Amino acid sequence: MEIFVCKDYDAVSEKAFEVMKDIVANKADAVLGLATGSTPIGLYQNMIKDHKENGTSYAKCQSFNLDEYVGLPRDHRESYYTFMHTNLFSGIDIKEENVHLPYGDTKADCEAYEKAMEHVHVDVQVLGIGANGHIGFNEPGTSFDEETHIVTLTEKTRQDNARFFEGDINQVPTHAITMGIATIMKAKKILLIATGANKADAVAAMIDQAPSTDCPASVLQNHKDVVVILDEEAAAKLNR
Ligand code: GLP
Repeated sequence: MEIFVCKDYDAVSEKAFEVMKDIVANKADAVLGLATGSTPIGLYQNMIKDHKENGTSYAKCQSFNLDEYVGLPRDHRESYYTFMHTNLFSGIDIKEENVHLPYGDTKADCEAYEKAMEHVHVDVQVLGIGANGHIGFNEPGTSFDEETHIVTLTEKTRQDNARFFEGDINQVPTHAITMGIATIMKAKKILLIATGANKADAVAAMIDQAPSTDCPASVLQNHKDVVVILDEEAAAKLNR
């Protein structure tokens, strides 16, 4: 793992953008694994700015998102489909037919997503991390061998995400469809970003403890090309 500790959120977003730009600038048809959450928004803003100012094109790129809530229509304001269109896709020239997000609540839906990814090799997978160490929606206890599957969200995750649902946990979906850890680990490169003090415990477990399903992100220690970009608060509990 290559670990960078930056001053704050903006510096993390800038560093993450450098990694992304390096990939897209060298491979016009790059396959991007994308994530939702507050953390990657700054990265996405930098991508949009760079597209508008420097003409970096995503016209030949494909994207595959990590996860989606079960039970929200795609046009729901809090669906990850809406999030990605609002925060990234509407600001760059990626083609709608090249954009992929998992959707549905059946085994067949999960298999369909794996099938869609069958003939591509993700060049870079962007990841945030949950305060409980989840990646995508792979909650603690998830086997490292899982591919795309339906999950029951933990109370902790639903509480954390209630801020997007008027602070009301009852409005937060109870299930999600997510790439599994085995799916995520197939990416050529992983770019994990984390900011804020509420991520410090998860970040310490990811980096300093032996890989264990207790902290799903700790599996990344087994991947050969991982870049972790943290702000000082998220890095505060690291041993080194
Ligand atoms: C969400 C997403 C994750 C994301 C995480 C952290 O529930 N499923 O992909 O990384 O939680 O979100 P945030 O960046 O808002 O802290």
